[in-house]
Parts: sequence; C-alpha cells; structure tokens
Amino acid sequence: MLEIDVASLKMKSPLVLASGVLGSFSPSLSRVAEHAGAVVTKSVGLQPREGYRTPVIINTPHGLINAVGLSSPGCEEFSKELSKFRGDAKLIVSLFASEPDDFVKLSSYFDMADAFELNLSCPHVSDAGLTVGSDPELVKEIVEKMKSRSSKPVFPKLSAATDYIEVAKAAEEGGADGIVAINTLRGMAIDIGTRKPILSNISGGVSGEGIKPIAMKVVWDLYEELEIPVIASGGATTWRDVIEFILAGARAVQIGSAFFYSYRVFYSIKESLIAYLRKEKISLNELVGMAHKTV
Ligand SMILES: Cc1cc2nc3c(=O)[nH]c(=O)nc-3n(C[C@H](O)[C@H](O)[C@H](O)COP(=O)(O)O)c2cc1C
Repeated sequence: MLEIDVASLKMKSPLVLASGVLGSFSPSLSRVAEHAGAVVTKSVGLQPREGYRTPVIINTPHGLINAVGLSSPGCEEFSKELSKFRGDAKLIVSLFASEPDDFVKLSSYFDMADAFELNLSCPHVSDAGLTVGSDPELVKEIVEKMKSRSSKPVFPKLSAATDYIEVAKAAEEGGADGIVAINTLRGMAIDIGTRKPILSNISGGVSGEGIKPIAMKVVWDLYEELEIPVIASGGATTWRDVIEFILAGARAVQIGSAFFYSYRVFYSIKESLIAYLRKEKISLNELVGMAHKTV
C-alpha cells in the first residue's frame, strides 16, 4: 500500500532514515530498515575524519542543533561495516568530498549501495557540504561525473541557504535522479550560565520541527521547477508532516531528528499512513503534489 518509485528505486514505503542520525552501524540501520523504504548512511569521505570536540549536539524547544563535523572512519572502514547491512529497505550511501573526482572515487568503495546521496549542504564544515553545494557549475560537474561512472541513482542533497532552484536545475541538467531538500540550517545557542556558546564549534545545523515550514517551501518550489523527483528532509515528526510534504510534491520523506525522540517513529508513522490512505481511499501516487492543483 505504501510502495512508491523514486527514480529507478522501487521503495516499499516513502519513509527514509535521514543521513547521520544512526551513523553507519549496520545492525542499527538494518533494524530501522524493517519499517522504512530506505536508509541513508552517515556521510562518508575518502579519509578518516575526527569531527569536532563535544558538545556536538544540543536539544532546544524547537529542534536540535548539531555540529558533529562530519566525523567518519573513512571509506574503507565504512564500506566493510556497510557490507553487513541486511534488510529489504534500499541502502543509500551519503558521500562528501570537495572535488568531482573524489566523489567518483568514493562511490567505487560502495558496491552494496542502491543509490548515492551527495552531501552538498552540510552547514558546519569549511571544505565540503554547503561550500561545494553553493556553486551550481560545480554541482553540475559532480553529478555529471558520478552519472558517467555509475548507473546507480544519484540524489544531491541541497540547502535552503543557497539559490536552491538554480543549484537544483544545475543538478538536474547534470543528470541527477532526484533532489533531497533540505539539510540543517545554521544556528547557535549560548549558555547564559557560562555566557559561552554551547557547541564547541560555536555554531551548528538546526534540524527538527522548527525548520519544517522552510523545508516545505523548498519542496513546493522544487516540485514546480523540476522534472525529477523531490525527497523531503527537514522537520518531519508525525504522519501529518509526511502527508503535508507529499502534498507539497515530495515522493519520499526523510526522518531525522524525530528518531532521537522515539525509536518507534518509523513503525508508528508507517501504520498511521496506511490508516490514512485506507480512510481517504486514495493512493500515495495521487497525493504527490496534489496541493499544487488547488491554487
Ligand atoms: C546529529 C545529526 C547528524 C547529521 N549528519 C548528517 C550527515 O552526516 N550528512 C547529511 O547530509 N546530513 C546530516 N544531518 C542532517 C539530516 O540528515 C537531516 O537532513 C536534517 O537533520 C533535517 O531533517 P530532520 O529535521 O528530520 O532532522 C544530520 C543531522 C543530525 C541531527
């Protein structure tokens, strides 16, 4: 009942675990896979990377702020771990790099991947992520190179803090199979007791409920402008949020921060979506972008 195609990926559900939330530990990813259509790994680079000192994550009333710093064991270790992934959800490996050739080199380590997500949007590193994803020409070149070497779907993940329509169109021209939008947005918090910024990196990326309206508008705009599918990310916490993103044009919806609040979020949203579709006598495919027809 929840089956949906995103480009050539045939997913059993539109629910996707967002990158970074569960790292890359295969047993944890496999467990979420039971109730998700796809799981995205923590972003991985060519070299091992330490990330920032703690504290790297804060919980606020509006969502989380994190500055993990793309910590990663490097692609060799990471691919060994991912080879143990089991489950009928699609495995999407998230890659970060600064140069087009490095993205291609990285992808060659991950035969087990069903698709690649390109992290062109992390807001708290200076040599990758948003720094790369703000340049439409570079984004096009990265996607073109990836597509010339691999037949697997490639999903660039963009930020709302860019001219995202221009960047998304460049990615589409380069051959992207879909766009993931959005990543976290820059933010910070200060401890009034110590009078210091809480995160060791001073600022980080805001995620969770507070960014949902921003993500919604980006998904809406991209649905209007692009031919390729849009995958929503940003603040989806309940089944209602998931339906709202689908009405705005998303074919799949990632869930990240909400997972920190409830380990059962995929199961409960999945069950609620099924109940909603039954009650409304409507299919997921019919719902995609439906709100556009009302204006
Ligand atoms: C602790 C944490 C780590 C994250 N790590 C990554 C990452 O490695 N790569 C990436 O593209 N996004 C990363 N993200 C962003 C999420 O994948 C997601 O796009 C963002 O949190 C918005 O979705 P949400 O509001 O559902 O959490 C991370 C988010 C959090 C909270």
